[in-house]
Order: sequence, then structure tokens, then C-alpha cells
Amino acid sequence: MHARLFNKDEELGKRDDDFKPKRSPTASALMKPWQWRKRRLFTIAAAVLMLYVFVHNLPNDLGPVDERAGRALRPGHTVIAPDIQTSQQEPRGPPPGYSGGQDGEAVRHNYDGPIKFYKLATSLHGISRTMGSRPQNRNVLFAVSSLRSAANLMPMACEMAKWDRNYVHMAFLGRDPLPLDDILEVNGVSKKDCAVYLHDARGDYSEYSSEQRAEISVAGAMKHINDFMHPQAMIMDDSMAEDTFFTRAMRGKARELGRALIEVPSGRYEEFFWMTRLDSGSLSNWFEPVIDVLIHAPTDSSGGLMRLVRSLQSADYAGLKVPRLTIELPTHIERFAQRFLQELEWPPISDPSPVKQSTLTLRHRIPSSRLSSEQASVRLLESFYPVVTEHNHVLVLSPQAELSPQYLQYLHYVVLEYKYSTYPSPSSEELLGVSLDIPSTFLNGSGSFVPPVTAEMQARQYLDKAEYDQAVATPFLYQAPSATASLIFGNKWVTLHNFLSNRLAASHAGKAEKTTKLVSETEPAWLEYLLELMKARGWSMLHPGTSFVTIHDELSQIPEEFTREKSTGKKDAAILEQPEHAEEEAFLTASDPPDIVSHVERQPRDTQPLHEFLPFRGDLPELTQLPYMYNTGDLINATRAAELKDDYITLFRHQIGGCDHPQAARKRVVHELDTNDLFCLPGVEIQFDLEAADEEAIALAVIQETSGPAGHDDGEEEEVTAVEEEVQGSAVARAGG
Ligand SMILES: *[C@@H]1O[C@H](CO)[C@@H](O)[C@H](O)[C@H]1NC(C)=O
Ligand SMILES: *[C@@H]1O[C@H](CO)[C@@H](O)[C@H](O)[C@H]1NC(C)=O
Repeated sequence: MHARLFNKDEELGKRDDDFKPKRSPTASALMKPWQWRKRRLFTIAAAVLMLYVFVHNLPNDLGPVDERAGRALRPGHTVIAPDIQTSQQEPRGPPPGYSGGQDGEAVRHNYDGPIKFYKLATSLHGISRTMGSRPQNRNVLFAVSSLRSAANLMPMACEMAKWDRNYVHMAFLGRDPLPLDDILEVNGVSKKDCAVYLHDARGDYSEYSSEQRAEISVAGAMKHINDFMHPQAMIMDDSMAEDTFFTRAMRGKARELGRALIEVPSGRYEEFFWMTRLDSGSLSNWFEPVIDVLIHAPTDSSGGLMRLVRSLQSADYAGLKVPRLTIELPTHIERFAQRFLQELEWPPISDPSPVKQSTLTLRHRIPSSRLSSEQASVRLLESFYPVVTEHNHVLVLSPQAELSPQYLQYLHYVVLEYKYSTYPSPSSEELLGVSLDIPSTFLNGSGSFVPPVTAEMQARQYLDKAEYDQAVATPFLYQAPSATASLIFGNKWVTLHNFLSNRLAASHAGKAEKTTKLVSETEPAWLEYLLELMKARGWSMLHPGTSFVTIHDELSQIPEEFTREKSTGKKDAAILEQPEHAEEEAFLTASDPPDIVSHVERQPRDTQPLHEFLPFRGDLPELTQLPYMYNTGDLINATRAAELKDDYITLFRHQIGGCDHPQAARKRVVHELDTNDLFCLPGVEIQFDLEAADEEAIALAVIQETSGPAGHDDGEEEEVTAVEEEVQGSAVARAGG
């Protein structure tokens, strides 16, 4: 019966063979005492020999302890390789040959004998049957050594188990001999309320272990644990709070296994509770997202810039990677601002090391003339490009913003949940990024914007009046760009670069019509291009229910690309300053300058931990369950959003992309990071979507077509791949004529 179970379960088949106990329990029980003793004698003799060689070599090599430990941990040194024991009783009291540590004296850590795990096998065998050990699974491991760390992490592990997204394990790897049940009791945890799988991974005589033996014991136990459960992520207490040998062994093992080892910063256990709502996929990618901060400082914004940078400096970065900071400076910088930047320490962490690396970049603008909206857009977009498209994201900040200290924790949480979860929602690819702000106006800068509330959620479970206050603001998706405080994902930024290349080519080729600006002129010009792309791709931005920024209005100003000069002729009329290149203004602007509407002050709440003030007890709803707001401010459903997107694509191709009517309406193949499907430009390949095609039709339909009247002249040819027969006919006819 068991054998069949094992055969059926391929997960078990993948278990590493070398984990199997060297001797099966029955074999060792049948072994004659003298045989057993001979083995043990041999092992001890070998260990003593090893130890002798090791100690003997010490004077020649007084290198760092790390190095020595690393050497001893190498696989060649099998003599003291930790072994799992299943059948024997663990010996009590001090190990044989233990010297010192009389009654009343502190236990001496000097035992260096072989390591055996007597208590680990039972719990490990228990888990492998229930949850398997595929390399990709739902196991998350909390690893602790000191009893204090156990107390620190226990509530977190229990909480994670309660959310039931992961199989939560907790392994005890330290020196303390306190039995597991007592540890639980001391911490007030009962197995009934806390569905964590506990593993006692302490070796024999752990109390008497030397540092070296303790470290090897941790590494050895972790090997067995990994063989059995392949934890997707390992969570430990702050390395400053944990035992040194444990930290060293865990770090080495995590590197070797290629697993994320998350250190919860000391004293921040409650603040990091949001972590318990993440699944193993998100946790295993803990270190992947890299956030860069980009601040664009217009002329005369030094006061705001300094306030913003100060809020960045005093934000909470414990346990997270401090973002790189790039500041785009205007031509003229005030002296006090210059001094402030010179003295700015970034990253803002008291790192005593003299080789501390600054990650602050300043960019200074040379021309003092006014930029066209095209130049302004290009300048901003060019100031960042992701190294790794999937993982590098940019947080664009305006000097009007002042950040909440929890901004990075929130971004980290949301990005890990929506981008890295094991089961991402299909609409996560349509997420442009994460805004920290709640808008006060519609895109056109007018009207009072009312953020959606719980009653407008798109999932029935949230409409339960008894459970959730229906009038509370919720997070929502909004198909509108914002430059106030928005994180934009790397792959979306790359696509925007590509889009702008095509878009500018279309403008300069005279193919694009000048369209009316939809985004208020109080916003930077690049947002108009981003809005076009968002509409064509169906992207939206996630806004929080509670704001993570305060927007200060007193310094708000119209971006220079839209500033106007008072005309001397007419009374009170203002005209837009004429840029040197009219073709670089792709949009029609309003005849009057825009009004600056003051931003509704939404004071960020930051006295509570994140999981307490986020709605729905800190659980992030699925993206499809959130209210979805179209760029006009209407709440719509997914069906309607898809229709609007298709209509817009057709309109865009015709109005801006340079496509004629039949071309504009046909479905095209969409490639990631690329926007060629929105344009019919010379040199741009046109690939129609070949959904219902059979192989033969495709082969027949591969034909060449010139790109219409303009493309014909410069001899540029485009490849057209088509399937449907009537299109084939028309394409051939056009190519012939
Ligand atoms: C601005 O947009 C809102 C929402 O789409 C609309 O109700 C309002 O009429 C617009 N205002 C102007 C001046 O166009
Ligand atoms: C989506 O909204 C439209 C109106 O905007 C409505 O006609 C349609 O029935 C809705 N679809 C679903 C699935 O609710």
C-alpha cells in the first residue's frame, strides 16, 4: 500500500536520494551490538583525527573564521557530516569526554564530535507525504536558532499559517536544549491554534557544541530540510539578533541553494506582518524587484525638492533595499539647494563603512530656452531605462509630493503580490504601475474626483454589509497616468520608449493628426503620450485606498512646456510661448491657460502597521475584483473596457498611426515591449493576427506589400502576412496597382 502511494506520487520520486538514512531503521536495529560499536568507534576516531588535522593547521592559516568554516563545510569532509537518526534514543547529558562545566558553571561550548539528528526525521517524513517536495511548491520555512528569535517569529509564522496560502514550517536549529513543547508553551502557542509544521532540527549535544560544530549542524539540518520540502523562501530573525553561527550557516546555505533568505528587521515584526499575506511565489522573489526613484525638479522648485528628499530620507527602509535616487535639475539651481544636495547622504543609512557607496545621481540641464512638449517628454523618459526589464521599476516623484514613511513597504508588498505571485491574475499584465496617490481631479484637471468605495467592488464577497463598511474608500484601478508619485513597471517603461519612438516618427512624417489634449496642462507633457498607450493597451494604474503621499499645493506650477506669456496686444489674454519647432507640439492645447486646482489633502496614516490600516485586514484583493475606472472617470466592467480598447486602437491607427481605414480595423499581432502593431509606418513590419489560420493558408498568404503612397517612393517594403482570402486578394491587387 505504501509502496504504491510512493510510486504514484511523483513528487516523492524527486526527493534527493542522499537524504535517505544511511541505514534503514530495521537494519540498524538488527545490527549486532559489537558491529554498531565498531562503527561508532571508527567514526569517533576519524573525527578526532580530523579535529587534530584541523587544529594542527590553524597556526598556518589564521584567516577569517568564515573561511575556515566554509572549508570544513565542503562536501569532502564527510567524517562529521550530520546524520539523521530515526531509531535510537537521543543521549542525554554532556557528551563523552566533556571537560569543564561543573555544577553551577556555564556550559562550555567546546564539543566537536559527530552530529546526529534524532528528532528531525519524524517531522520531515510527516510532511513529505502530505505536501510532497516538488522544486516549486507552497512551502515556506521560518528558521530560528535563539529562543528569543523563536519568540519574535512565532506570531508571524502562526499568522501566515492562518492565511493558508502557504504550508508554513518552522525549524529550530539552535543550541538550546529546551524541548519543543516547552518552547511553544513559553510563547503561549498551542498546536491547535497555530497550524505551523514544527521541526526540531537540533543535533545531539547541541548545547555543548563548539561554534564550528553548531554551524555545521545548521547547514547539515538545512540540507535535509531542503531535500524534503524545498522551501521557496526562508525567513529568519534579524542577523544582529540571531546567533552568529546560525546566520553564517543560513546565508551560506541560502546562496548554495539559490533560495531567498528574508531577514525580518529587529523590532519590526509587527510592521512586517503584511508579509504573512503573500504566497510562496511572491516570497521566493523577495529580492527581485528593484526600485529606482526619479525626481524631475522644474525651475524654482527647490523648496519642494528638499522637502521631498527629506521625506525620502526619513522613510522606513529596514529590511528592504534602499532605491537608487536620480534627480533631474533645472538649468538654474538656487545656492541653498545646491548645498543641500552636496551634503545629501544617499542611501540614508548609518553605515560606518568608509567604502559606503552613494547611489545618488544628479542630472543637470544645459539649455535655458523653453522646451517643446516633445523635448520635455523625451528628456524625462530618457532619464531612466531598466537594466532587467522584468524586475527594475521606476518611481516617478514630483517635488510637490511628500512621502509617507511606509511608502516602500507598501510598494514592495503590492509589487510582490501582483507581479510575482504563483498564480498571477491574467490582468496583472495590464497593470501599468502603482500610484501612491489618490487623484483630486479628473484627467482634464476639472471636477471633483471621488474615489471609489467598497460598494463599487467587482466581487460579491466584498459587498457583504455585515463584514465590510461599504462607504470606505478602496484601492482601485484607474486608466489614467499620473506623475505625482507613481511606480511604473520596467516592462511598461520599455514599451513606452518604443511607443514614443514610433509616435514621434509618425508625427514627424506628417502622418499623425494633431489631437486635442486630454490631460490637463498642469501635468507634464509625457503623460499625454502615456495616456494614448494606456488606452491602446488597456493598461491601468493601481491607486491605494489611503494615500501614501501628501501633495503640497503652494509650490504647484504649470510645466514649462505649457507655460504662457502674457500677450502685449490683447488685454489679459495669454498665448502659449511659441516653441522653435512647431512640429514638436503633437497636441492641440486649450486657448486659455489651465487653472490649478488645489489637491485634496489626504493625510497619510503612518502610525499603524501597514496590515492594519490597509482595507480588508491588509489582504490585497485580486485585480479583477477592484473597481475599474475608465479615463473619463466612469466605472466600467471588463467587457466594456475591452470594447473601448478595441475601438480606440482602430481610431489611433487611423488618426495617428498612419494606417488607412481597412488596415486600421484589422487585428494585428501584439509583441511584448513593442508597439509596432499600432502603426503603419515605412520600415515597420505589419503582422496581422493569424488566429484561425491553417498552415497552408499562411504559406500562400505571405506576400509583400508596400506601405501605401508614402512608403512607395522611398522604396521601403513591408512584409504583410495575411490569411483570410479576401484580404489576400485585395493586398495583391494593391501591390499590382
Ligand atoms: C473633465 O472631465 C470630466 C470627467 O470626464 C467631465 O465630467 C468634465 O465635463 C470635463 N471638464 C471639461 C472642462 O472638459
Ligand atoms: C458590462 O457593462 C455593460 C454596460 O456598460 C453592460 O451592458 C454589460 O451587461 C456588463 N457586463 C457584465 C458582464 O456585467
